[in-house]
Amino acid sequence: MESELVEITEGSTKLLVPKESLVGKTPPKEPAFFNPRAKISRDFSIIAYAAFLKNFKGPKTFLDSLSGIGARSIRVANELSEIEQVFVNDVNPKALEIAEDISKLNNVTKCVFSENEACRFLSLHSRRDQRGAIVDVDPFGSPSRYLDCAIRATFHGGLLSVTATDLTVLHGLFPAACKRKYHGIPVRAEYGNEIALRLILGCLSQVAGRLDVKIEPLFAQNNMHYYKTYAKILVRTGGEDDIGYILNCKSCGNRHATKEIKRECDKCRSKAELAGPLWTGSLYDKDFIDEMILKEEHLETDKSCKKILEKCRGETGMPPTYFTIDELAHMKRCAPISLAKTIEKIQKAGFRASATSLNPAAFKTDAPIDSILSII
Ligand SMILES: C[S@@+](CC[C@H](N)C(=O)[O-])C[C@H]1O[C@@H](n2cnc3c(N)ncnc32)[C@H](O)[C@@H]1O
Ligand SMILES: [Zn+2]
Repeated sequence: MESELVEITEGSTKLLVPKESLVGKTPPKEPAFFNPRAKISRDFSIIAYAAFLKNFKGPKTFLDSLSGIGARSIRVANELSEIEQVFVNDVNPKALEIAEDISKLNNVTKCVFSENEACRFLSLHSRRDQRGAIVDVDPFGSPSRYLDCAIRATFHGGLLSVTATDLTVLHGLFPAACKRKYHGIPVRAEYGNEIALRLILGCLSQVAGRLDVKIEPLFAQNNMHYYKTYAKILVRTGGEDDIGYILNCKSCGNRHATKEIKRECDKCRSKAELAGPLWTGSLYDKDFIDEMILKEEHLETDKSCKKILEKCRGETGMPPTYFTIDELAHMKRCAPISLAKTIEKIQKAGFRASATSLNPAAFKTDAPIDSILSII
């Protein structure tokens, strides 16, 4: 049965989407997959790619390895004038048919369409002169099976963006599956979304290491069940990667990054949990975030993007975990005080503290847990 297509606008691009994808909670995979709720994720991609292209010197090509109906790639082709060529690939021929119609609807002529398995598509782009300036991997569930091919298909100095939606795995419901897919295990903690992003980057960094390149994270973002990381792929020049563990103590709330495997909390001596190996370095590059904030002004993206980016800027250089005001209130057995007040009090006590883009009711600080509890 032919599915009805409906015209909607995302950013400044007209999209034709299967009518069924606009109703109900989970969009159907047939005839082609489109999730209207991933708009913010695509908005952030448009901003990040615009910021990246500003300083990229090679051929400005974009490889969309799992394009669906091309919502991301045709937006890139239509909304970023600096992009030169966009490769739109999916295994679903119906999705590609719709993608071609969308490109015609927007008078976009920079797109090349292909129907290939994603790894095959990426492998076809692994020769130096065929690689993408920007490569995107946006699968159903885990991206881990595509990472090798995706890194090989990314220009040295190019940008690789990777989405993961396998929440149950990344949030610790299935630790064995997480270890298999991401080479690290999570802990179940209030800041589970940050651990998830760090596991994706940790895995990416380990795969990059095998291929003699390295990653430099520029931006990371989570909304709903979408986890997306943006990392530069660079020639390896030696040095150690920012890979380690996060120690989490359920007894006293202590949490911090560590290079060593420790099983005991250094504050209260209780048995502690360890997440990792994962990425313990920065999730954001401050100059890149500044450029994203500048680019956002001129793009048709959601208003909330700017607020999130400003929080990202404020938290660069902060430790790799956060505290929620609710968990602290629970530990103190009192009503939570406001986030702004909490941050102000910690700063007044001489520590660094900032809001975090990853949770509207949480903050980052270099103050240890015992100091935080006595300050608030
Ligand atoms: C989450 S959707 C992509 C959504 C799209 N990037 C967007 O922003 O709207 C995943 C897509 O991957 C395609 N797909 C699944 N397995 C694939 C494979 N092994 N190779 C290529 N495409 C695949 C599906 O047909 C589906 O369109
Ligand atoms: Zn402890």
